[in-house]
Amino acid sequence: MAKVTIDDKIIEVPDGTTILNAARMIGGDVVPPAMCYYSKLKGSGGKCRTCLVEVAAGSEKDPRPMPKLVASCSTNVMDGMVVKNKTSEKVMDARKGVVEYLLMNHPLDCPVCDQAGECNLQDLGYEHGLQKTRYEFERRTFEVQDIGDNIKLHMNRCILCYRCVYTADQITEGRVHGVMGRGDHAEISTYITKAIDNDFSGNIIDVCPVGALTDKTFRFKSRVWFTRPMLAHRNCDKCCGKTTVWLSGDDVLRVTGRKDQNGEVEEFICNTCRFDKKSLADWSIEGPSHIDKHSVISQNHYELPSDNIKRLK
Ligand code: SF4
Ligand code: FES
Repeated sequence: MAKVTIDDKIIEVPDGTTILNAARMIGGDVVPPAMCYYSKLKGSGGKCRTCLVEVAAGSEKDPRPMPKLVASCSTNVMDGMVVKNKTSEKVMDARKGVVEYLLMNHPLDCPVCDQAGECNLQDLGYEHGLQKTRYEFERRTFEVQDIGDNIKLHMNRCILCYRCVYTADQITEGRVHGVMGRGDHAEISTYITKAIDNDFSGNIIDVCPVGALTDKTFRFKSRVWFTRPMLAHRNCDKCCGKTTVWLSGDDVLRVTGRKDQNGEVEEFICNTCRFDKKSLADWSIEGPSHIDKHSVISQNHYELPSDNIKRLK
């Protein structure tokens, strides 16, 4: 076990735990934001630099500070390590720079983007972003593309976090999309004319931290904060069948995987549950899903299961 201090909070974690996961065990404000790391995807992390932290003391044995900020998602804790996240001016300053960099090519689409209200980059921008841009060059722009029957790609919004690539690699039978080109030419694309059409492809929408991959069956139907997210399940022979259904009245506007306290999908779901079961009769409703009170979606969202379930019956 290793004892680590993060923003003055002490926790003991198993050896080999990353700083980010140790912070997640503490919870609250000490948790650095993460745009590319996803605990359910092997190899994710190390791409976006939003999770940078300062290591003020390396370990009990060698308490020297680390000379540079480190990516907390890919740096393991050591016994006696002292980490600063919110309490470090250097980190706050660097995070501003990272957000500015991520927004360099990202359009200000929030008023028309389906991800608004549940977008990690929007939250990050509010917390650490500048009120204006200093970028004077022409931004990269791409045509909006259909990738498969149910998924739309807005490459302009992509931050190249690779989460969708790892998802396709690790939970579908054959990945047919990836990051083509490198540097300024890097973009998400399918191989020539191949469309993404395997049974679990819809999960790439859930893991995308921005609005680059959106659900065509839900696009422009409603702002997400006007819907009511409810936990629901059905007997499914392909996946766990446990989902969140997003209701407007009795209409099922969209179906997603359930997310945990870190905003990550608890269990991946199949395309049948996600795209084809859009009637309330398809689902057994368990009750309102938990929405963090800081989220705009929590407006008018009451977590009183009995009341809501009665109303649905
Ligand atoms: S499309 Fe979304 S999930 Fe895929 S790399 Fe871009 S931002 Fe990440
Ligand atoms: S979450 Fe650590 S580098 Fe992206």
